[in-house]
This record gives sequence, C-alpha cells and structure tokens, in this order.
Amino acid sequence: MSSAASRGGGIVLDGIAHTYGSFDHSLAILDGISLVVEDGQFVALIGPSGCGKTTILDILTGLVPNQQGIVLVGGKPPKEGRADTARMFARDALLPWRTAYANVEFAASTRHPGKDRRFLIEALLRDVGLTGFEHSYPRHLSQGMRQRVALARTFSLESDYVLLDEPFGALDAQTKLLLQDKLLDLWQRTRSTVVLVTHDLAEAIALADRVIVMSARPGRIVADLPIDLPRPRSVRALQKMRAYHDLYARLWNELEGAAGLGGSAAKETDHAQNA
Ligand SMILES: Nc1ncnc2c1ncn2[C@@H]1O[C@H](COP(=O)(O)OP(=O)(O)O)[C@@H](O)[C@H]1O
Ligand SMILES: [Mg+2]
Repeated sequence: MSSAASRGGGIVLDGIAHTYGSFDHSLAILDGISLVVEDGQFVALIGPSGCGKTTILDILTGLVPNQQGIVLVGGKPPKEGRADTARMFARDALLPWRTAYANVEFAASTRHPGKDRRFLIEALLRDVGLTGFEHSYPRHLSQGMRQRVALARTFSLESDYVLLDEPFGALDAQTKLLLQDKLLDLWQRTRSTVVLVTHDLAEAIALADRVIVMSARPGRIVADLPIDLPRPRSVRALQKMRAYHDLYARLWNELEGAAGLGGSAAKETDHAQNA
C-alpha cells in the first residue's frame, strides 16, 4: 500500500446518473448521486434492493462505464484492474482448484508480480482465523471460511480503495460478528478507504464512520449520517451501548422514509438480515 501522504483524492462522485436498457425500454437506476469519501474513511451504503448500490461499485471499479457526472477514485477516473482498487462480493468466487493459500497468492501475485508475499499472506490467513486451513480447497471449507479467504484475498491486494458488496450477507449471525471484527482490524491496520454496501443496519453502524442512505430506484442519497461512536470498536461491545441503539433507531427511520412506501425499505432490510 502506498503511504497516506502519497495517495490522495479519496472517492468523488459528482452528479452521477445511470440508466440501463435500450432507447424504448430504459430503467433509471441512479439519479444525481454526489458523494465525497475522504481517504481513510469507512463509509457504509444502505438502501432498498435494486436502488443501485452495486451499480455504484460497478462504476467505481470501471466495470460499468460512467454515463453522467464525474467519478474519481484517488484523483483518477476508474479503470478495470486498477491496483489501488479491490472489490469483494457477497459470494466468495474462489478458484476451486486452488487452496486457500493459493487463492490469496494468485490474486496478490497478479496485482504485484515478482514480490514475495508469503509472509503477508500467512499473516492475513492467520488474521482471519484460517490457521490450519491454508492448504484446504474451497470445497472443503464452509461458506464462512470461504468468505474469510475472500477477505484475506481482498486485503492481500494492499489496495488503497476497498469496495465491499454485502460481503457477509450469506453468513450466519455468529460468523458475521467474527468477520466484522476482523474487517475492522484489517481496516484499522491498513488505513484503506472502505465503501461497504450492506443490507444490515447493525453492521453499517458498527463498522462505518458514516452511513449513506439511498432511496428506492432511481437511487438518490437521502441521508448521510456521521457515526461518532468511539474507536477501536468491537461489534459485540457496541451492542451494549445506548448511543449505538439511538443511531440504529434514527437510521431505521431514515430508511423507512427512503422507501417512500410506508416502510418497505425497512422491511426489505429486515428480510435480508434474516435471509
Ligand atoms: N447489466 C444490467 N442490465 C440491466 N439492468 C441491470 C443491470 N445490472 C443491474 N440492473 C438493474 O439495475 C437495478 C439496480 O441494480 P443494483 O445496482 O444491483 O441494485 P442494488 O445493489 O442496490 O440491489 C436493478 O433493478 C437491476 O435489475
Ligand atoms: Mg447489490
């Protein structure tokens, strides 16, 4: 990772709009999205299904071309495969023919060829709690363990900008809490800039510096709430704090308002948390 002084610019979205489809059959996905994420900040993005959260990450990684407005990541327009940008999905997408270690190594060596990363990879696998499973193949690992590998892989890229798309959405409650704490550790150590898309309000508050709430499609930003809970945080310890529950209630209201449909956003969030 480059030092904090050598990187710069954060993430800038200015007046982004996005439409999918052809001339006679188009669907407005995003409308007037403007957002600045400072370098080193941890931002959570929540909103009803289909409001364009994944599309924002697609645009930030250059997977989907930007149609309108300005997008800058670290002061430059996005481009696929940029070494300073890493993305993690809800499902791990590990290479089945490679072990846990080899999956991480493959990703890291693609990004940083020729550099010996053995020490870093071993430390990362240890950090996410995979000691003893380094040489296991994905088919022999649980979903939770595969997501641990995917988390290690994401941070092995040593990218300044880390984009996470519902990374813990498919996990049981206990594994999710463990991995949320691991993610906080990794972020605090690397000081990367994180955008986390999540359906889980508790996760957003526990992890982020700021929670951005989006409206139903076409997605607009309807709230931007600072989360001024003390750090370092432990997800489990936070749940005993009054301030945490107050923020939860406030955000729940924002999310209900965001749906504009008598609380369907909140219901969807609730549903997704229990799915
Ligand atoms: N490649 C695509 N072509 C057409 N429509 C798409 C495409 N990708 C996503 N969409 C549609 O755009 C909307 C927003 O999708 P997405 O960004 O995935 O929302 P979210 O992540 O908030 O659930 C959805 O209705 C989805 O069906
Ligand atoms: Mg999505």
